[in-house]
Amino acid sequence: MVEVSTSILSVESGNEAETFLLLEKSKTDYFHIDVMDGKFVKQDTYKKMIEYSNYIRRISNLPLDVHLMVEDVETGIEVFSANEPNIITFHLEACKNEEEVMKNIELIKEKGARVGIAIKPDTPIQEVYKYLPYIHMCLVMTVEPGKGGQTLITEMIAKINELKSYIDKNSIEIDIEVDGGINLKTAQRVKEAGANILVAGTAILMASDYKVIIDELKN
Ligand code: DX5
Ligand code: ZN
Repeated sequence: MVEVSTSILSVESGNEAETFLLLEKSKTDYFHIDVMDGKFVKQDTYKKMIEYSNYIRRISNLPLDVHLMVEDVETGIEVFSANEPNIITFHLEACKNEEEVMKNIELIKEKGARVGIAIKPDTPIQEVYKYLPYIHMCLVMTVEPGKGGQTLITEMIAKINELKSYIDKNSIEIDIEVDGGINLKTAQRVKEAGANILVAGTAILMASDYKVIIDELKN
C-alpha cells in the first residue's frame, strides 16, 4: 500500500491552520516536517517547523514524518521528539562516522519513533546498506535537499530500483520513501521502482482539491 506524506514546507503563511485541517480531511497519511538549519542546507526553517509541529500536534493525531536536514542531528532529534513523531529521519551525510550513525539510530529509538536515514542524490545507495537492518525507512532524495518545487532527478529512479532489489534479495522489511519533485507525472515511475511512501509538497499544496491529488498519488 502506497502512503502519502505531505510536505508542509511551502504552506502559505497566514493560511496554516486551514491548510493543515484540509490536509487532514484529505487523508494525507503523514505530515512531512522539513527541518532545515541553514547550515546543512541554505534555508533555515527550524523555528517555523517547531511551531508547525506544535500546532499540528494540538489539532491532529495524524503521524508526523520529521525530515532533519541539519548538521546537529542529536539536537534535532531531542527538539523534534517533543511532539512524539512517528518517524525521525536524519541525513547520512550529516554523520562523521558509523559510530555517530548508530548513536543517532539508538537515540531515535529511545524516543519511541521509527528511524529513517536519508541520502542525497550524489550519495551511492550502497552507503546505507549496512544500516538497513537497524532502521525502518530509507528516504531516497529525488532532488537536492533544501527547497520545494524542484524537478525530480530521473537518475534517482534507478537508485530506488537498486535499493528495492537489495532489500528484496536480503528480505529486509523497510519502507522506501522518496522526496522531491513527486507529482502525478513522476509518482507512477517511483512506485514502479519500489517506493511506498511518497513525499509531495508543491503538487498537493497547489491543487484546488488536496484529496483528489492525494488519492491519485496513492493509486
Ligand atoms: C526538500 C524537502 C522536500 C520538499 C518537497 O529539501 O525535503 O520535502 O519540500 O517539496 P516538493 O514536493 O515541492 O518537491
Ligand atoms: Zn523532505
